[in-house]
Amino acid sequence: MEETITIRRPDDFHVHFREGGILSAVAPLTADHFNRALAMPNTTDPIRTGEDAVQYRDQIRKAARNELFEPLMTIKITDGTTPAVIVKAKECGVIAGKAYPVGVTTNAQEGVSDFKKLAPIFSMMQDVGMVLSLHGEISNRFVSVFKKEVKFLPTLKWLVDTFPTLKIVFEHVSTKEAVYEVSMMPDTVAATVTVHHLFLTTDDVLGSYILPHNFCKPIPKTAEDREVIRDAVIQGSGKFFFGSDSAPHVKMRKECGSGAAGIFSAPVVLASLAQFFDEHNHMERFEDFVSRFGAEFYGLPLNTETVALSKSKWVIPEEYDSIVPFMANEKLLWKVVKQ
Ligand code: NCD
Ligand code: ZN
Repeated sequence: MEETITIRRPDDFHVHFREGGILSAVAPLTADHFNRALAMPNTTDPIRTGEDAVQYRDQIRKAARNELFEPLMTIKITDGTTPAVIVKAKECGVIAGKAYPVGVTTNAQEGVSDFKKLAPIFSMMQDVGMVLSLHGEISNRFVSVFKKEVKFLPTLKWLVDTFPTLKIVFEHVSTKEAVYEVSMMPDTVAATVTVHHLFLTTDDVLGSYILPHNFCKPIPKTAEDREVIRDAVIQGSGKFFFGSDSAPHVKMRKECGSGAAGIFSAPVVLASLAQFFDEHNHMERFEDFVSRFGAEFYGLPLNTETVALSKSKWVIPEEYDSIVPFMANEKLLWKVVKQ
C-alpha cells in the first residue's frame, strides 16, 4: 500500500508573485497547494501603499484561478514611507511591511538606508499591529555575501529592544548565528525558513559548477549552518515557520552574464518538505511547520481544508513557462495528490 498523509492546508509566508506573464504562470502553482501566501512587495514598480496592495491583491487573486486562495499583502518600507502610509495600509488589510536594506537583493534599489532613521515608522507599525518583515542582510558592499546576515544581527537586536511589542519576522534565515539569535529573542520575533536553505550549501551554487538556478539571497551557507537550520525546524519551536521565498526569474535572466538572485520553488516546496520531514523521521512535525506556526504568529485563523500527499516518485519538470524550478529534472519521493 502506498503511504499517504493528509494535513491541514498550509500557508506560505514569503512568495514573490511578480507581475504580468510571470504572475499568471506562477500564481496557480502556489494556489494549488497553499490556502494563503504572503505576497512580497518588490515588484518592478514596488507596492508602497495600501492602495497599491489592494490592486496587487486583485491581480494575484485573478491570476491564481482558485477561489480557496487568499493572498496576504505587504508594503515595501523605504526611506520615503511615512507613518500615515502605515495607518492607511493597515486599514486596507496589509498585514506586514517588508524592509530591504538598500541594494541587497532583486529589486531592492529603493530600500532602507538607515533603520534608525525609520524609528517613527516602526513605532507606528507597533501601534497598529503590523508585522515587520526583514530581509536581514546589511547593504555595505565591503562586507562579503557570506557575512551580510550575521552583520545585520545588531540591527535586529536594536529593533527588538526599541520596539518591544513589534512583531518581527527574520526572513529566509541562512546562518547558525541568526538561528541562535532568533531562538533567544522574545516571542515577538520569529524566522521563516525556505526549502532551499534546508537542502543547499554554498557548494550547490558554486562548487564544481556555477548552478545559477540555485543562486539566491541570502546565499546558502555551510553544511554546519544548514544543520542548525534543520535542527530548529525539526525541534518544532514555533519560532521557525515556512516561507518559501519562491522567486521566479525567466531562464534567460538566470542563465546569462549577470544572473538574477532568486529560486523558483513554488511547484515543489510542499512535496520536498514532506520528503525532508520523512527523511529525518519527524513526519509529525510537518503540519505544524507549514500549516500552524506561521498562522499563529500572524494571528490568523488556521485553515480548515486539507491537502494530501503520497509517497510516490515523480520527476520535477525542466521548466514551467520558461522558468526553471528548484530541483528541475530531479526525483522527489513525495507528491501532492489531492489538492
Ligand atoms: C528575491 C527576488 O528575486 O525577488 N531574490 C532572492 O534571491 N531571494 C528577493 C529576496 O527575497 O531577496
Ligand atoms: Zn524573498
